[in-house]
Amino acid sequence: MRDVSIVGIGYLPVKKEYDLSLRKLGAEATRRAMQDAGVDKVDALFVSNFGCDEFQGQKHVGPLIADELGLYGIEAMQVRAACASGAAAMRVAYLTVASGQADLAAVVGVEKMDPEISTEILAKALDAEREIAQGDTMVSIIARLMRMYQDRYHVPDGGLDNFPFLAHQNSRHNPAALFNAKEITQEKIRLARTIVDPVKLFDCSPVCDGAAAIILAPTEQARAFTQTPVSILGSAVANDALRVSDRKDPLRMDAARISTQKALQMAKVDQKNVNFFEIHDAFSIITCLSLEASGFAQPGEGWRMAAEGRIWPDGDVPISTRGGLKARGHPIGATALYQTCEIVEQLTGRAGENQLKAPEIAMMNSVGGAASTLITHVFAV
Ligand code: COA
Repeated sequence: MRDVSIVGIGYLPVKKEYDLSLRKLGAEATRRAMQDAGVDKVDALFVSNFGCDEFQGQKHVGPLIADELGLYGIEAMQVRAACASGAAAMRVAYLTVASGQADLAAVVGVEKMDPEISTEILAKALDAEREIAQGDTMVSIIARLMRMYQDRYHVPDGGLDNFPFLAHQNSRHNPAALFNAKEITQEKIRLARTIVDPVKLFDCSPVCDGAAAIILAPTEQARAFTQTPVSILGSAVANDALRVSDRKDPLRMDAARISTQKALQMAKVDQKNVNFFEIHDAFSIITCLSLEASGFAQPGEGWRMAAEGRIWPDGDVPISTRGGLKARGHPIGATALYQTCEIVEQLTGRAGENQLKAPEIAMMNSVGGAASTLITHVFAV
């Protein structure tokens, strides 16, 4: 297997709604990444999207985006793993380049969500027969996890509020973030409306549109495309029972523990070497459980990390450094590609006002459904 590096990135700001069509939005992000790498064609294009068959009535988005780019005769396919689709597409591209099947691979994530039907469409990442049929949605499952956590560990009301506060603060320095212009205070978070008790507005990532892309090449050729390649040191996936109530302990997020261990082992580093963690903060409780399952906090202690300042840009495990899913936005299929672009910017000193001090190693997790798919990647400069 060959070592693989990221040699180009491109994205558009996350917005509540884009007028651009799905094909044009996805193609534009890919074009920007190709321009960044200085290439006008690739051998393979992997497209990540969650819900376009229902949001836009469009399936088969691999050839759709390739067509808009004028790329024909290449490997152009969609890859899907619910909210972790972007990381799944990146992993397929990584394996394709690592195995020598392609030299240059583009990965693009694109999503245009319709708020009118998003709750129903997002629920489809759960078990249709045994969860959705009982009336569950993504937020109702998350509410159950949050209540269970608060009760088991005696977390006071508002104990998780520091997670969205941190994300919104960080997003103020990211011009591509959905909530970049919004000042969100702790009081606003505390007084926000309840969505499904105990989940409140700021415990949720927003429904939005976006597209982001990266270009991968073998590391030995990377400097032909950029002076600042970022290598992918680790890539791993693990699954868990699809229905949350079938898990031995729903608060353990076993898939996150396993995928983290595997990815770090492959990268030959451990948690102490990780300079920052782009976490899948789709919901406050998922941020908290991810910190615990990934080995950055003991069970029941994750929520304290924000209050203690440990996950802030000057802490020992900065997370969501550009606003995360919570405040940059979570256009589902595009999310992991935004995270990756932000990681590349951090590792190459291009993160603007939120630039960390000379980070060398970053970790990213991507959560599919209610943590039935976990994908972890480790990056380095
Ligand atoms: N966080 C902060 N503010 C939010 C927000 C969020 N998650 N969602 C919406 N808002 C803001 C909007 O910007 C808007 O503000 P404005 O009045 O200043 O313009 C206001 O709240 C009303 O927006 P609206 O779109 O009407 O909210 P909504 O009630 O329809 O949606 C949620 C709120 C929480 C239900 C929706 O964001 C949601 O479903 N999120 C979860 C998505 C999800 O499950 N993703 C998959 C994760 S795996």
